[in-house]
Amino acid sequence: MAKTGGAVTLSGAAAPGIEARLLALPVHQEALRGRGAGHVRALDALLGGHLLAAVRAEQFEGKVGQQLSLATLGRARAERVVLLGMGPASTAAGWGAEGFEPLRLAAGKAARAGRGGRLVVALPELPAADLPGAARAVVEGALLGAYRFDRYRSEKKRKEAAFDALTVAVPAAAARAAAVQEAVALGEATAAAVAWARDMVNLGPAECTPSLLADAAASLARRAGLRCSVLGPKQIQALGMGLFLGVTRGSAEPPRLVTLSWIPPGAAGKRRPLVLVGKAVTFDSGGLSLKPTDSMVTMHGDMAGSAAVAAAMQVVARLEPDFPVHAVFGACENMPGGRAYKPSDILTAFDGQTVEITNTDAEGRLVLGDVLAWAARTWKPAAMVDVATLTGACMVALGWTTAGVMGPDGPVVEHVLAAARRAGEEAWRLPLTESLEENLKSDRADMKNTGDRMGGAMAAALFLKKFVKDTPWAHLDIAGPSHAQKERGYVPKGGTGYAVRTLVEFVRGWKA
Ligand code: BES
Ligand code: MN
Ligand code: ZN
Repeated sequence: MAKTGGAVTLSGAAAPGIEARLLALPVHQEALRGRGAGHVRALDALLGGHLLAAVRAEQFEGKVGQQLSLATLGRARAERVVLLGMGPASTAAGWGAEGFEPLRLAAGKAARAGRGGRLVVALPELPAADLPGAARAVVEGALLGAYRFDRYRSEKKRKEAAFDALTVAVPAAAARAAAVQEAVALGEATAAAVAWARDMVNLGPAECTPSLLADAAASLARRAGLRCSVLGPKQIQALGMGLFLGVTRGSAEPPRLVTLSWIPPGAAGKRRPLVLVGKAVTFDSGGLSLKPTDSMVTMHGDMAGSAAVAAAMQVVARLEPDFPVHAVFGACENMPGGRAYKPSDILTAFDGQTVEITNTDAEGRLVLGDVLAWAARTWKPAAMVDVATLTGACMVALGWTTAGVMGPDGPVVEHVLAAARRAGEEAWRLPLTESLEENLKSDRADMKNTGDRMGGAMAAALFLKKFVKDTPWAHLDIAGPSHAQKERGYVPKGGTGYAVRTLVEFVRGWKA
């Protein structure tokens, strides 16, 4: 559905000698001094000194964010060259710890400047140990930067592909190294998964219904070789998921409870699993506590958490960890209507706890509460991570691009934070301030579903914790970063696929 770039290859040839529509050179400031260094020097020689002359004329200093594009007019095998500023060389020492995010951003920019043909991205000079991670970041950045969602554009309005083929130019020895080749393959798989998640978020809510989301996840599972189970309303009722059923009641679309499972062969399959839970509200109108129009227009993306966990499973299947991993989500719509659940309703959860509904727009925590309690009881997970577009309050706290990470002190929260950093996704921890729990006390039931506005992201997490109980757990609120207001590097406007990469890194780094 999505348009991303074509085939990816590695090349150990000197970058200026590779045929390309566009050659992208991420450059440090030092490589521009004097007669230039590395690729810049070689290319400048081919262009008879015009590259460095243009650098001087355009006052391109190689600062982060700076960009210089130049036609080669037949003097090099690349038709055009783009220099991407990477700042001083000393900053590259920290790139490994942040998953080479500056290279991912630069490659994304290069892709967005592409107009078909072959895109070559040449790695800047780096220590050999950094080359696999750097190559992976370039592949992810270029493929994700090339992503376009034009399903709803008429034929004439569709943009051409950013590139038809991508080549990552690395030192000759690195092009033959298994670690670099594997990193490129993992980058491709990850980018494909992120694109899948973006597609799901970008679909309109009339198309991306709970049943379509379940079907899409099932066909992903089939392709990837994962087990999959899809339950409908009768089975959800039989399980006693009263919170989930309450939320879905106002909708004409039947709910789905979807599970995707990686189970390794042999004894490893019996280990305690990792469980990933996603919020899957395919449209959140707010229900009877109706949202204003402006807040409602992006609510087709309220299933971004489920898209992220399902997409991550596609990569998990190829990582083949030696412990089971399950992804699960309860998909439904939150709609007003004659049968809709009402403020002042009391709902009984899967685990028997009762909830007084004070706001039908706090629906995500209700569905998640049931699904988390069910997953905890069913699998006794070693760790559970949920990913949810849960609160506007989290965006107020952390902005558009940073996810909130919450959970009790322990290895799960620490691993999620570390994984996000390695993945190049912004995440920051918020506390589970216990005094906020007061807020959720109800006069009529075990708890209410909303408290006051202040500390809303943490209050929502405290609500979830009542259903997670003692299971090791972390909660990721992705209300901000799941959706981009403006394009940035490899992130186009719309669905971002946020958390797919963090989840992949989380599973990759987990030891059973
Ligand atoms: N899906 C929304 C949260 C959201 C808001 C996601 C903006 C993305 C962008 C969630 O279901 C919601 O409506 N939360 C309410 C909770 C409140 C009623 C306690 C909110 O944040 O306003
Ligand atoms: Mn809501
Ligand atoms: Zn919602």
